[in-house]
Amino acid sequence: MKIQAYNPIPNTFGLKVTAASYVEYDTPAELETLLADGIVTTPYLHVGSGSNLLFSGDYPGVILHSCIKGIEVLHEDASHVKVRVGAGVVWDDFVAHCVAHGWHGAENLSLIPGEVGAAAVQNIGAYGVEIKDIIAQVETVSLHGDNQTYSTEQCAYAYRDSLFKKRKDLFVTRVTFVLSKLPLFSLGYASVRNEADLLATVDLPAVRAIIIRIREAKLPDPARWGNAGSFFKNPVVERSQFDALHIRYPDMPFYEQSDGSVKIPAGWLIEQCGWKGKSLGRAAVYDKQALVLINCGGATGQDIIALSDAVRRSVREHFEIDITPEVNVV
Ligand code: EPU
Repeated sequence: MKIQAYNPIPNTFGLKVTAASYVEYDTPAELETLLADGIVTTPYLHVGSGSNLLFSGDYPGVILHSCIKGIEVLHEDASHVKVRVGAGVVWDDFVAHCVAHGWHGAENLSLIPGEVGAAAVQNIGAYGVEIKDIIAQVETVSLHGDNQTYSTEQCAYAYRDSLFKKRKDLFVTRVTFVLSKLPLFSLGYASVRNEADLLATVDLPAVRAIIIRIREAKLPDPARWGNAGSFFKNPVVERSQFDALHIRYPDMPFYEQSDGSVKIPAGWLIEQCGWKGKSLGRAAVYDKQALVLINCGGATGQDIIALSDAVRRSVREHFEIDITPEVNVV
């Protein structure tokens, strides 16, 4: 356990921000003790490794961070394995562990920054897979100190959304995954499919390598350019609005949703507005993927927010579409 005053808050945007109090715990029992001892006062914020957060300034309250580790096999048979993973395990370390053990299901989510707990809160997704697809249950401790386990259905998962994004009184401690020991791959995503078609044999290490290659080509390394991956969510529009847009922009990429609505890539909308590679102050729209905002060096949270507001305004004016941040702005 660690409790520190005015500690820098880790964040991949590379922003220099501190928390009035920064608290780390190693077990669910330690978290319960912190809660019982009144260490967690309002305002508080539970964070992972800060890979999906944008701080507009210093945080005046308590930042909580889980260091709960461990990957424990609960059950295994010929076709499946059930594993319970600590919220503080680095997400990509877990994916690498799955690949090394021949467990299928997490490989398309290779190289996504962050930790297991935050990944389950955010419902991370990439290349046709969302983390909810492999989650069996999520264990939490509440602000009042009680333990509760949520089934995947109870987690109310949706696109980059879950029960835990609303219920800030629940802290995820461990996540249980079910993975396949049989070779099942999700290769529906065009860029993944194209590379897989070139392989003599498709196996887990090869698929992980493809995903890593695609991500590295499109997404900036936070060590070089501070960023938080996709800054905006891809907007979903009504069929009628989509039809009108599609006539005007026949090349517009889109994804039909099961309810008839249509998801449009925000990266495409932003690029059409001329923002790709453009900067505003010390923040910029990444030149290889317009959905990503970067810190060009020395930016503040306010710089990134100013750019985000300008981009949103352009998209609204051009397309009458509201794009909303995927990143959690604090
Ligand atoms: N596009 C453009 N210009 C751009 C960027 C994209 O025209 O600057 C077009 C692409 O050509 C493509 C479409 O938009 O037709 C989709 O692009 P891409 O495959 O790069 O995916 P995305 O919709 O921009 C989403 C996720 C990513 C995830 C990828 C792959 C969201 C908010 N983002 O991006 O997730 O890696 O799909 O599945 O859903 C993240 O959440 O941080 C993240 C990186």
